[in-house]
Parts: sequence; C-alpha cells; structure tokens
Amino acid sequence: MKGVVLAGGAGSRLFPLTKITNKHLLPVYDRPMIYYPIQTLVDAGIRDILIVTGGRNSGDFLRLLANGKQFGLKHINYTYQEGEGGIADALALAEHFADGRKLCVILGDNIIEGSIRAAADAFRAQASGAHILLKEVPDAERFGVAELAGGKIAGIEEKPAHPKSNYAVTGIYMYDSTVFDKIRTLVPSGRGELEITDVNNAYIREGSMSFSLLQGWWTDAGTFDSLLRAANLVAVSPAHRGDSEPDSVERAAAV
Ligand code: G1P
Repeated sequence: MKGVVLAGGAGSRLFPLTKITNKHLLPVYDRPMIYYPIQTLVDAGIRDILIVTGGRNSGDFLRLLANGKQFGLKHINYTYQEGEGGIADALALAEHFADGRKLCVILGDNIIEGSIRAAADAFRAQASGAHILLKEVPDAERFGVAELAGGKIAGIEEKPAHPKSNYAVTGIYMYDSTVFDKIRTLVPSGRGELEITDVNNAYIREGSMSFSLLQGWWTDAGTFDSLLRAANLVAVSPAHRGDSEPDSVERAAAV
C-alpha cells in the first residue's frame, strides 16, 4: 500500500499565521506539522509516499523534507494542487502515483498519539473497497460524522448541525484504486469543494466500506484552538517525545 499526505489548501481558519506560509509547515511543539502524518504512514509500514501541496510555499516542502532521510526513507514524491478544490480534488492528483495500488491517505493536519498499523494491515488483507478510522469526540459537528447501524456505517454527514453520533471521521482514509472513478463523479459542495465525505458515501452505498476505532488521542490542527491542543498533546506524549531522536541528530549535525 502506498501513502498520500494532503498538504494543500489555504489554511484560512489560521489566518494570519498562514498569510506567508502553508499551514502544514507551522510548528506543532518541536517540529513542523507535516512531520506527524508522514511518521504515521511510515509507522504503518508505508514507504512509498506522495505529498500533495499547493500555493506559493510548495517549494518549502522540498527544502524541508528532501528525500525523507529523517524518516528513514530513500525518496519522497511531490505533486502540486492548483487552487483550493478540496480534499477529493487534491487526492485526484495521486492517480498516476497510485498506479492501481491501494492507498492510505492522511490529511496533513491530522495528528495521532498511537499507530494505524493494525488498520493498515486489516485493509491490506481486505480484497477491495475502503477503510476509515473513527474517533469518539465531544464536538462532532466540526467533522464528518458517521451514522452507525448494525455494526456498519450507514452514512456520513459533513459537519452536521445535529450529529447522529459522536463518531468523527478522522482524516485517515484507505482506498482501493476505484477511488479515482468515484472522484470523477463528484460535484462541488456548498463550500465549492469536492468533498472526501462524498467519496466515502460512494463506498458505503456499494457496501464496501469497513472501519475501525482509532486508539489513543487524535486531533486536527487547522484552527487556533486545535493547533494549540495539538502542541499541548504532543508535548506530553511519550510516544512523540521518544521518536524525536533522528531530528536531534540532524540538529546536532547542523550546529
Ligand atoms: C475534513 C473532512 C472531515 C473530517 C476532517 C478530519 O474537514 O472534510 O470530514 O472529519 O477533515 O480532520 P476539513 O478539515 O476540511 O474541515
């Protein structure tokens, strides 16, 4: 399975922090935000990774990440999203990279405490379809929300005023190669974007969506409050503090 980190978008909810840089380059405690989702993929055994960026700061990703040595990688792939067409529009750019293989897609502002290894292994063993990770949250109206019935997902609503459950759809999605055909059928939502929730609902309609519950904490980092929360969670997380060694080596080498 290959990996895709979606790191485009205007980051408008973090303006003016995002006036001169990309959201995913902002610091979360001791490293740039995008380090966390890349590490999540690497920890799940994914070594072939595509970064989708956009905007004026896209070149900074190459300078920051280069070939991914700090993650033990030999190479990182990059592509460029024109405009801000939404998550599914950004994912469409990964079709050539996917080359018919399964993908694990992670939003560049999603940070987790634990690992998605078990979910990734379960999806590797799943013949086709999709797999998403859900997390129980107190503020489900901020997210895509899954309606559960009979141990299955009946449907997902994007940022509903009255959520049908407390289960948020995290920004970690696993898809087979039919995802690109599904994206081609989408029409822009009210906010003018191709919604990943519509992609997920297409899998749910065809009965090929499985899910698991994410263990440990999860946060996005796309608002002032969640960015602060992310930094505070990482700062006291033994898992994250423990894996900072390659960077310390890099820092030591730089002085
Ligand atoms: C996006 C998705 C939403 C998901 C969330 C996870 O929201 O649209 O379904 O729950 O990421 O971080 P956005 O960040 O675009 O508001």
